[in-house]
Amino acid sequence: MTLQPMRATATAQPNIALVKYWGKRDVALNLPAAGSLSITLGALHTRTRVRFDDALDADDITLNGEREAAQTRKIGAFLDLFRTRAGTAMRAHVESGNDFPTGAGLASSASGFAALAVAVDRALGLNLDARELSMLARRGSGSAARSIFGGFVEMAPGTRVDGEDAFATPLLDAAAWPLKVVVAITSRKKKAVDSRAGMQTSQRTSPYYHDWIATVPGDLVIARQAVQARDFEKLARVSEASCLAMHAVMLATRPALIYWNGATLDCIQCVRALQADGVAVFFTIDAGPQVKAVCLPEAAARVADALREVAGVEDVLISGLGEGARIDGDGA
Ligand code: DP6
Repeated sequence: MTLQPMRATATAQPNIALVKYWGKRDVALNLPAAGSLSITLGALHTRTRVRFDDALDADDITLNGEREAAQTRKIGAFLDLFRTRAGTAMRAHVESGNDFPTGAGLASSASGFAALAVAVDRALGLNLDARELSMLARRGSGSAARSIFGGFVEMAPGTRVDGEDAFATPLLDAAAWPLKVVVAITSRKKKAVDSRAGMQTSQRTSPYYHDWIATVPGDLVIARQAVQARDFEKLARVSEASCLAMHAVMLATRPALIYWNGATLDCIQCVRALQADGVAVFFTIDAGPQVKAVCLPEAAARVADALREVAGVEDVLISGLGEGARIDGDGA
């Protein structure tokens, strides 16, 4: 008989895509239109506690200390995927908290759904493998499929209509190439258009969307080779190109998706000046105004000092690469 502890606590970390995901081949199953490649961060965490309770008649969901109807519906639907597998209708208490700003381009949905998938799997005694957990996390958020794993991770878009080949796999451990990520926070405001809505509008209206999707497989080949060879220059070039191509698609979306502020652009120029000075660093930016500067470990302090000096930068975080989603301590 499978043990069902009915409760579990898990931790996951956000990841940052170097080859970006922006577009879906299926909305219902949340299947990406193209692959992506990411690094999982070490210093930012989501901790999620789940407890199934047969006295509950509705899920009770608290995110960063707040209850919100739209989130409760979204997470309830996600829990249903696991309830169906476990053959239970039992409702759950879910408490999740981040130690970094939510909804500001720091991929809180990635770590959130990855932590939730791992915690619910344990609580219901499902014992799913990492591939299945990645596919389930994907249903919550495409980028969450990648946070199941640590280090360098590639997400496959798959071709099957049932999505059973759309999951992430680990490429290289964090310790094998311990890059640093310096995150320049330029705003803590919640963004106006979230990734899910934004990418669907891009898909419908951006004249560059199809060309963008066509560039991804080639970028993935280069990025994969760069990771395998630990070739920083090569990874830098392809990552910046993928980021800027995605933002070009966003800018051409109608109405336009402009996730940058003035400080975002100043941070890009700061990274370019460091590069011109021979520093091993490159930038990447997601659906928000923060700039993530990826660098070799020996460059991290200099990169952080330079970004801190940029007007409009509110804070600078330095992170290493980290592990995949996991159960905490004794899991209770
Ligand atoms: C810009 O994974 O948040 O961060 O699958 O609709 O939940 P949904 O979208 P999400 O999109 C992430 C977009 C991105 C790029 C990336 O992480 O690859």
